[in-house]
Amino acid sequence: MKVIIANWKSQKSAAEAEAWLTTFARQVTSIDPKLQIVIAPPMPLVGLVAGWLKSLKLSQIQLGVQDLSPFPPGSYTGATSTQNLEGFDVKWAIFGHSERRRYFHETHQQIANKVEQALQASMSPVVCVDEADIVSQMVAIDEKLHSRCYVAYEPVAAIGSGQQEPVDHVVQVGNAITSQFKPRTIMYGGSVSAGSIKEYLQVTDGVIVATHSQDVSDFISVIHAAI
Ligand code: PGA
Repeated sequence: MKVIIANWKSQKSAAEAEAWLTTFARQVTSIDPKLQIVIAPPMPLVGLVAGWLKSLKLSQIQLGVQDLSPFPPGSYTGATSTQNLEGFDVKWAIFGHSERRRYFHETHQQIANKVEQALQASMSPVVCVDEADIVSQMVAIDEKLHSRCYVAYEPVAAIGSGQQEPVDHVVQVGNAITSQFKPRTIMYGGSVSAGSIKEYLQVTDGVIVATHSQDVSDFISVIHAAI
C-alpha cells in the first residue's frame, strides 16, 4: 500500500473544497487498491470534508489533519484536540512540517507530544523531518512509539519550489532513518508531481503532495501517474 497525502495547507474556501471533491468524485471512478489517498484540509474544513466524503461516496479517500494540539482536551484556547475531531473519522495527522517549525516555532518536544495525542486517538502520525533535524526529532519521541510513526523526509529546499530532490538521496536518507529508528514507514514530500511521483513511490511508502494537490485535475494526474 502506498499513501498519497494531499496537503492543502491554508488554502481553499469551503466552497472551493466542495467543488474539488465533487469534481474528483465525478472524474475518478476507481482508485487502484494499492493506493491510499488522504486529504488533509485546513482545520475549519475538516468536519465539512468528512461530510462530503460520505455524501459523495468517496469511501476510498481517508481524512487527515495538518496539525493537532500537543495537549489533551482542556483549557487551551485556539488549539484543536482529538476530542474536537471525534465523529469525523480522521485517520491521519501530519506533524512537524517545516512551515510549522519555521513560522510557528514548534519544538521537537511539542511535536512528540502531538504524536502521542494522535496515537491515543488511533490516528496515524506522519512526522515530517528535514535531514538536519532527524536525530533530534526522533529522540524526542518515545522510542516505544517509533514503530507506529510514518516519517516523511521533507527537504526544505524541495518544498513548493519545483526543485527535484534526487531519488538516490531520498533512498540514502530513508535508509539512515530506518536503520537508526525503525519507523513504521518512510515517506517523502517536496515538489512531487505527476512527472516524479512514480520514482518517489518506488523507493518510499508514500508521498505528501501540496502544490500539485490544489487543483483537482492536477491531483488526478498525479494519482494516475503513481503506479
Ligand atoms: P509541495 O509541498 O508539494 O508544494 O512541494 C510538500 C509539502 O509541503 O509537504
